[in-house]
Amino acid sequence: MAIENKIVVSGIRSTGKLHLGNYFGAMQNYVKMQDDYPCYFFVADYHSLTTHPDPKDLRASVYRVLSENIAAGLDPEKVTLYAQSDIPEIPELYLMLNMLAYKGELEKVPTFKDKVRQNPNNVNAGLLTYPVLMAADILIHRASLVPVGKDQEQHLEMARNFAQRFNSRYGELFPEPQPFNFGDALVKVMSLDGSGGKMSKSENENATIYLADDDDSIRKKVMKAKTDSGPIEANSLMPEYIASLFSLMRLVSAPATVAAFEEHFNQCTIRYGDMKKQLAEDMIEFVRPIREKAKALELDAPLLQSILKRGAEQARAHAAFTISEARKLIGINYY
Ligand code: TYM
Repeated sequence: MAIENKIVVSGIRSTGKLHLGNYFGAMQNYVKMQDDYPCYFFVADYHSLTTHPDPKDLRASVYRVLSENIAAGLDPEKVTLYAQSDIPEIPELYLMLNMLAYKGELEKVPTFKDKVRQNPNNVNAGLLTYPVLMAADILIHRASLVPVGKDQEQHLEMARNFAQRFNSRYGELFPEPQPFNFGDALVKVMSLDGSGGKMSKSENENATIYLADDDDSIRKKVMKAKTDSGPIEANSLMPEYIASLFSLMRLVSAPATVAAFEEHFNQCTIRYGDMKKQLAEDMIEFVRPIREKAKALELDAPLLQSILKRGAEQARAHAAFTISEARKLIGINYY
């Protein structure tokens, strides 16, 4: 049964292999929400165009996101699963919302500033208005809940601002979407490089555990994670890179395993080599079934195509109402 009929929307960019950050920040929540809410989940392929991917790679990237989500437990019979570019109502709403979004506020968004720093030769308008397209993705379904990781918090705040602005200028149409996670707070899965940064699709492949990684590469990546010779005083403060390893362990290992290593840390008897071996084995056990299932699905193009086609029909039918209401409220209503 749907809880108060709240609508759920979320998306993942098709820019590479999905990783543990995507899983624990977003996908895990999708799977838990699918039984209780009307859910719209999509592959954000338009968003991926900001970095100009090779056209030859796009289809495989979209298939991969789809396959990895289904392998992680998403059921296409329970949720609407589609590609963003199949829903022309999204760019139409994006255009409308662009008139309510200001250059100054878009330039201040931290993810925009990061991208400008990383890639100063490709500061395109799509990058600047990225949060507006994301707001359109969400508002097109009049969603209330958006399962995302911590890195998307600011984008959600902007989506709420655009919804409010539209409602107060033209009339009530959009609920204010809230970021959602089944824990207390939004999740940030840390990179293995000990830098304090998050795991990410594009930065430092060696510090990111992908859902497609084989057992050996997981072992190698985890064993390379930064540690030191261990604490010398009981109950001392954990350095950030050790705290990161513990936070990763909490995601994939049994609570008793984590507690045992914490106790060793506090008693200064911890052997980081043992801890990393355990962490690697637990990650391998976690990743293996998803990897194997996704590998098989990725090869089943007819199945993926039929899921995308059906998803697009359902999502368009739902989006059509929002667009026709938005047009009426704006005054685009001539005959
Ligand atoms: P993307 O593709 O970068 O990531 C997809 C989802 O994974 C989460 N995530 C993480 N969570 C915790 N720790 C990490 N290290 C980590 N890395 C990624 C992200 O928070 C996200 O939930 N802009 C979005 C895609 C998008 C979208 C939307 C999301 C487009 N339109 C509408 C929600 C609603 C993005 O680039 O996510």
